[in-house]
Amino acid sequence: MTNVAVIGAQWGDEGKGKVVDWLAERADVVVRFQGGHNAGHTLQVANETYKLSLLPSGVVRGTLSIIGNGVVVDPWALLEEIERVRGQGIPVSPDMLRLAENATLILPFYGRVDRLREQRRGKGAIGTTGRGIGVAYEDKAGRRAIRVADLYDDATLRDKVGHLLEHHNALLRGWGAEEIAPEELIAKLKEIRGPLTPYVDCVWERLDGLRRSGRRILFEGAQGILLDVDHGTYPFVTSSNTVAAAAAVGSGMGPGAVGYVLGIAKAYTTRVGGGPFPTELQDEVGARLAERGREFGTVTGRPRRCGWFDAAAVRQAVQLSGMDGIALTKLDVLDGIETLEVCTGYRIGDRMLTRLPASQADQAALEPVYERLEGWSESTAGATGWAQLPATAVKYVRRVEELIGCPVAMLSTGPDREDTIAMYDPFAD
Ligand code: IMP
Repeated sequence: MTNVAVIGAQWGDEGKGKVVDWLAERADVVVRFQGGHNAGHTLQVANETYKLSLLPSGVVRGTLSIIGNGVVVDPWALLEEIERVRGQGIPVSPDMLRLAENATLILPFYGRVDRLREQRRGKGAIGTTGRGIGVAYEDKAGRRAIRVADLYDDATLRDKVGHLLEHHNALLRGWGAEEIAPEELIAKLKEIRGPLTPYVDCVWERLDGLRRSGRRILFEGAQGILLDVDHGTYPFVTSSNTVAAAAAVGSGMGPGAVGYVLGIAKAYTTRVGGGPFPTELQDEVGARLAERGREFGTVTGRPRRCGWFDAAAVRQAVQLSGMDGIALTKLDVLDGIETLEVCTGYRIGDRMLTRLPASQADQAALEPVYERLEGWSESTAGATGWAQLPATAVKYVRRVEELIGCPVAMLSTGPDREDTIAMYDPFAD
């Protein structure tokens, strides 16, 4: 049985929510394994739009949904999201939503620390979502984080909060910012444990059982490979590993757990926040992509930076995650653009590069090298078969496949799940 991981192949916002939703119908379980409520997955199902941040996209279909240990969990945000989705008629019950007992918690003051850090970075600000994601991963690596299971032992909780605040209050004091009172934090954490209890589980064991009984597991990545803390455009990255290999670590499964890696890439490129973006367009084409693609962040509402498809960067993502297929999304946004450009590599002065360099200085100096392709004037919106696509659109997709070294397994031509051309179903036996 093949388990599938869905991974963003750019800087996030590639349209993973829709693809996961499409696959979730065939999966027995959907697992989130990294990130937190910095993610924003939009699903459009039968005239209803669902905006998910922390909940795995499987909840909308009633598929068993698991929040793995690699996710950083703001329990208040989680409970709020459960209520919001319930308000839209989706019965999110503890039977269908399980939360790893060893997941790291995002504490109420993490957002404040995140934003203070950003202020202090000034011009070098990363442009985080301000949700305390990085702070949670730092505390996890620093071995002082509060994890879900810690909520259930008063002595441990008290001890750990004391240790954690020793670190954070020293920092806040240094910045001249208000310190955190331990009693207040402990009281808040005690309040949340009751409502959280029904969802808490040993998810690695449950997943092992599901795998052994041949259940189909869908791993739902958040953000994108170019935001990976090791492999992305560091330091302008998120604080988790977003590559496919993280699916195993972040859920407690072996490296063989993922059989098929499906990368998701937009037919152009977007990025939210700061950092290098070689194909960024600050002209009317960029504005047109933003407008037609409705490129505003799901979580923060910030306008997304837009640019041409960067085949060199996606090729790198394909290699870094061993991608077996790509779902190319938002092809219809390119409708009506006379000439399209695709980045095939970069130049720094006389130096030619076929990949994104690791050095921050080099990344900032990159000039894209473009190949020009003929566009199409017809509409591809809502196309459900290759035959409905203009010849130049087919050529564009075929050229993209060649350049990134990976077959296009799926094409998305609109927000509805029906607006899809599926060439390959990774869950098909
Ligand atoms: P953080 O994850 O909030 O720490 O933000 C770090 C970087 O990742 C910033 O550039 C954010 O804009 C970006 N980022 C985080 N989550 C997402 C996402 O879901 N989509 C796109 N960008 C994201």
